[in-house]
Amino acid sequence: QTSSAGAEWQEVATSDELLVGQGKIVTLANQPVYVVRLQENEYKALSAICTHLGCIVKWGLPEHPDHFFCPCHAAVFDTFGNVLAGPAPRPLPSFQVKVSEGKVLLKT
Ligand code: FES
Repeated sequence: QTSSAGAEWQEVATSDELLVGQGKIVTLANQPVYVVRLQENEYKALSAICTHLGCIVKWGLPEHPDHFFCPCHAAVFDTFGNVLAGPAPRPLPSFQVKVSEGKVLLKT
Protein backbone atom coordinates (compact mmCIF):
# COMPACT_ATOMS: atom_id res chain seq x y z
CA GLN A 1 0.00 0.00 0.00
CA THR A 2 1.26 3.44 -0.85
CA SER A 3 -0.12 6.76 0.26
CA SER A 4 0.05 8.27 -3.21
CA ALA A 5 -3.16 9.38 -4.81
CA GLY A 6 -4.50 7.60 -7.84
CA ALA A 7 -5.62 4.15 -8.76
CA GLU A 8 -3.76 0.98 -7.90
CA TRP A 9 -4.15 -2.50 -9.29
CA GLN A 10 -5.16 -4.97 -6.61
CA GLU A 11 -4.96 -8.75 -6.97
CA VAL A 12 -8.34 -10.29 -6.16
CA ALA A 13 -8.15 -13.79 -7.62
CA THR A 14 -6.11 -16.11 -9.76
CA SER A 15 -7.24 -17.00 -13.25
CA ASP A 16 -7.18 -20.69 -12.23
CA GLU A 17 -9.96 -20.03 -9.75
CA LEU A 18 -12.41 -18.92 -12.42
CA LEU A 19 -13.51 -21.22 -15.18
CA VAL A 20 -15.10 -19.64 -18.23
CA GLY A 21 -18.64 -18.69 -17.26
CA GLN A 22 -17.94 -18.57 -13.56
CA GLY A 23 -17.98 -15.60 -11.23
CA LYS A 24 -16.65 -14.80 -7.81
CA ILE A 25 -17.43 -12.06 -5.32
CA VAL A 26 -14.29 -10.30 -4.13
CA THR A 27 -13.73 -7.31 -1.87
CA LEU A 28 -12.39 -4.09 -3.31
CA ALA A 29 -12.13 -1.05 -1.04
CA ASN A 30 -14.49 -2.78 1.40
CA GLN A 31 -17.13 -3.23 -1.29
CA PRO A 32 -18.30 -6.51 -2.80
CA VAL A 33 -17.41 -6.74 -6.47
CA TYR A 34 -18.30 -9.53 -8.86
CA VAL A 35 -15.55 -10.76 -11.14
CA VAL A 36 -16.81 -12.97 -13.94
CA ARG A 37 -14.86 -14.78 -16.63
CA LEU A 38 -16.93 -14.44 -19.78
CA GLN A 39 -14.42 -15.96 -22.20
CA GLU A 40 -10.97 -17.44 -21.92
CA ASN A 41 -9.44 -13.95 -21.97
CA GLU A 42 -12.44 -11.78 -21.20
CA TYR A 43 -13.26 -10.75 -17.67
CA LYS A 44 -15.79 -8.32 -16.26
CA ALA A 45 -15.90 -6.69 -12.85
CA LEU A 46 -19.08 -5.06 -11.61
CA SER A 47 -20.31 -3.90 -8.26
CA ALA A 48 -22.25 -6.73 -6.58
CA ILE A 49 -24.53 -4.25 -4.84
CA CYS A 50 -27.95 -3.93 -6.45
CA THR A 51 -28.72 -0.31 -7.31
CA HIS A 52 -32.29 -0.74 -6.07
CA LEU A 53 -32.02 -1.27 -2.30
CA GLY A 54 -28.55 -2.70 -1.95
CA CYS A 55 -28.96 -6.47 -1.90
CA ILE A 56 -26.10 -8.59 -3.23
CA VAL A 57 -26.70 -9.78 -6.76
CA LYS A 58 -25.97 -13.32 -7.95
CA TRP A 59 -24.25 -14.41 -11.15
CA GLY A 60 -24.83 -17.54 -13.14
CA LEU A 61 -28.08 -18.87 -11.70
CA PRO A 62 -29.52 -21.65 -13.89
CA GLU A 63 -32.48 -19.47 -14.86
CA HIS A 64 -30.22 -16.44 -15.50
CA PRO A 65 -26.98 -17.97 -16.79
CA ASP A 66 -25.47 -14.85 -18.38
CA HIS A 67 -26.95 -12.21 -16.15
CA PHE A 68 -26.72 -10.79 -12.67
CA PHE A 69 -29.90 -11.41 -10.71
CA CYS A 70 -31.02 -9.70 -7.52
CA PRO A 71 -32.96 -12.08 -5.28
CA CYS A 72 -34.67 -9.28 -3.35
CA HIS A 73 -36.98 -7.85 -6.02
CA ALA A 74 -35.88 -9.70 -9.15
CA ALA A 75 -33.79 -7.05 -10.87
CA VAL A 76 -31.79 -8.45 -13.81
CA PHE A 77 -28.56 -6.92 -15.16
CA ASP A 78 -26.58 -7.88 -18.24
CA THR A 79 -22.81 -8.45 -18.34
CA PHE A 80 -22.23 -4.69 -18.72
CA GLY A 81 -24.37 -3.98 -15.66
CA ASN A 82 -27.27 -2.60 -17.69
CA VAL A 83 -30.72 -3.08 -16.19
CA LEU A 84 -32.77 -5.60 -18.16
CA ALA A 85 -35.70 -6.05 -15.79
CA GLY A 86 -36.95 -5.20 -12.35
CA PRO A 87 -36.93 -2.05 -10.23
CA ALA A 88 -33.21 -1.16 -10.26
CA PRO A 89 -32.87 2.52 -11.26
CA ARG A 90 -29.26 2.47 -12.47
CA PRO A 91 -26.71 0.10 -13.99
CA LEU A 92 -24.21 -1.71 -11.78
CA PRO A 93 -20.98 0.30 -11.69
CA SER A 94 -18.09 -1.45 -13.40
CA PHE A 95 -14.40 -1.65 -12.58
CA GLN A 96 -11.36 -2.07 -14.76
CA VAL A 97 -10.03 -5.60 -14.72
CA LYS A 98 -6.89 -7.16 -16.21
CA VAL A 99 -5.06 -10.44 -15.98
CA SER A 100 -1.32 -10.58 -15.60
CA GLU A 101 0.76 -13.71 -15.01
CA GLY A 102 -2.29 -15.64 -13.90
CA LYS A 103 -3.47 -13.02 -11.49
CA VAL A 104 -6.76 -11.19 -11.81
CA LEU A 105 -6.33 -7.54 -10.93
CA LEU A 106 -8.87 -4.80 -10.36
CA LYS A 107 -8.25 -1.09 -10.38
CA THR A 108 -9.15 0.51 -7.09
FE1 FES B 1 -32.25 -5.58 -5.84
FE2 FES B 1 -34.55 -4.59 -4.92
S1 FES B 1 -32.64 -4.68 -3.91
S2 FES B 1 -34.14 -5.55 -6.84
